[in-house]
Amino acid sequence: MLVPHGGVLQDLLQRDAPIKSELIAEAATLKSLSLTDRQLCDLELILVGGFSPLTGFLNEADYTSVVHKMRLSTGEVWPIPITLDVSKQVSSQFKSGDRVVLRDPRDDLALAILTVGDIYTPDKQLEAKEVFRGDPEHPAIRYLFDVAGEVYIGGALQAINAPKHYDYTELRKTPAQLRTEFANKHWSKVVAFQTRNPMHRAHRELTVRAARDKLANLLIHPVVGLTKPGDIDHHTRVKVYQEIIKKYPNGMAQLALLPLAMRMAGDREALWHSIIRKNYGATHFIVGRDHAGPGSNSKGVPFYGPYDAQELVERFSTELEIEVVPFRMVTYLPDEARYAPIDSIPDGTKTLNISGTELRKRLREGTHIPEWFSYPEVVKILRTAYPPRQTQGFALYLQGLPNSGVEALSYALQATFNQFAGGRHITLLDAAKIGRGAVSFVLGELVRSGAGVIVVNNEEVVSNTELSAIRKAVAKSGTFVVVSVETPRAVCEANDRRGYFQASRKDIEGYEVPADAEIRVDLDSLPINTAIQKIVLYLEEEGFFVF
Ligand code: ADX
Repeated sequence: MLVPHGGVLQDLLQRDAPIKSELIAEAATLKSLSLTDRQLCDLELILVGGFSPLTGFLNEADYTSVVHKMRLSTGEVWPIPITLDVSKQVSSQFKSGDRVVLRDPRDDLALAILTVGDIYTPDKQLEAKEVFRGDPEHPAIRYLFDVAGEVYIGGALQAINAPKHYDYTELRKTPAQLRTEFANKHWSKVVAFQTRNPMHRAHRELTVRAARDKLANLLIHPVVGLTKPGDIDHHTRVKVYQEIIKKYPNGMAQLALLPLAMRMAGDREALWHSIIRKNYGATHFIVGRDHAGPGSNSKGVPFYGPYDAQELVERFSTELEIEVVPFRMVTYLPDEARYAPIDSIPDGTKTLNISGTELRKRLREGTHIPEWFSYPEVVKILRTAYPPRQTQGFALYLQGLPNSGVEALSYALQATFNQFAGGRHITLLDAAKIGRGAVSFVLGELVRSGAGVIVVNNEEVVSNTELSAIRKAVAKSGTFVVVSVETPRAVCEANDRRGYFQASRKDIEGYEVPADAEIRVDLDSLPINTAIQKIVLYLEEEGFFVF
């Protein structure tokens, strides 16, 4: 087995265990910092030694050296800045030498004590350019500017507790645990496989090929910390991995979960991944096509070249000692019913592939996913987690002026939908009654659980900005459709029995017609039945109703 990066496994939890009670007592007297989700992942990896040789968050000299040279100031290779970012205001409460408790934001558990080293303001533009190549659409650059604080606090850590997990605890292994298990099993060569996606046959073939080529065992080591926004959730993925692992010859492969917060930093990230896997006891590391790449930006330009990661990791391979197992794109050969890397087959060989986008489309539409692509057990898990549209929930947001007919439309829609909802629960909600702050949350939860929600708003003036915020939030759980009821204002005012348009109700003056409504109806010129028809046909076309 290889020695950890930097020579020693920095298992702070073990190291500080003898003085844990002293640290707990001291923690009760100190100021606290509650960590962000990313910092929590980073901290866990520091405490267990996954980030060896790091023993804390980077001080300024290390940070600068990592940004420019991919090395710590001591010279060890380290490509990603591991920094504790805080707001200016928070940073002003601390000075170098202070002792601060770092806490888990979920349960307030004291995890570690930080001895404050440098408090410094990073040049974020420079970090963005050097570490993540500068494209403002890169997810890590977005995070850097939109989420991360302006000031970084460096300093060494003393461990009190690892963050507590309640899911898949038996699959979460520290570097020390994996190293012991490998030794007990006499695994002298271990090929590690990183992934943040469900595994299909191509991945199984690729990993088995690597194991065969290197006469090694396999560590399937998926990330369950933070991955790219929009990825398949880790619960679904772990269920997939638990099935996939059964498809390996007995005793060949082991599954363990890694609580890493990925940055999607392509080549630099691949180098980081290989260091981490070396710490976990692997001797080999697979780097395939577009490793840890976030894909392409909105103009279709890829953030990284497909094999940039391989090139960079191979450059450092001798120095790091962990051996890279590079793969060109692995693809299916239907005429031979087998998988092979694209560079190992003659030009003109027929190949088949289903992209992530295509797979999501097939799940959404409930169409066929062939067995050559994935195992039926895996497809079943994915179909349960990502049901086809006809059983998914949706939210229909009906907005119009008072007396525009929007309310009548909502009742009529509820009755109509209930006729052919196909078992889907149909809910009718009044936006004004839920309360402004809770609308997105309530809609999101209902849609996620498969309900068809009709929400009507004819009292509160919701601006286009607010409506887009609701859309963005609900879209994370499912489909959000805006129906704008555009009955002429004069007609609404003429029918105003309840005094909505009186001078005392000035707020109606600020009414904004939704800018990006999917459906627009004028209930003065359009009979309500026709409006319903228009809405039903839209949902049918989108796959929510099957007739
Ligand atoms: S990643 O962000 O974790 O790299 P993913 O889970 O898709 O994403 O990939 C895991 C590893 O498998 C990476 O090393 C990637 O390059 C490799 N990989 C995935 N699919 C293929 C493929 N079809 N051919 C070659 N390598 C692949």
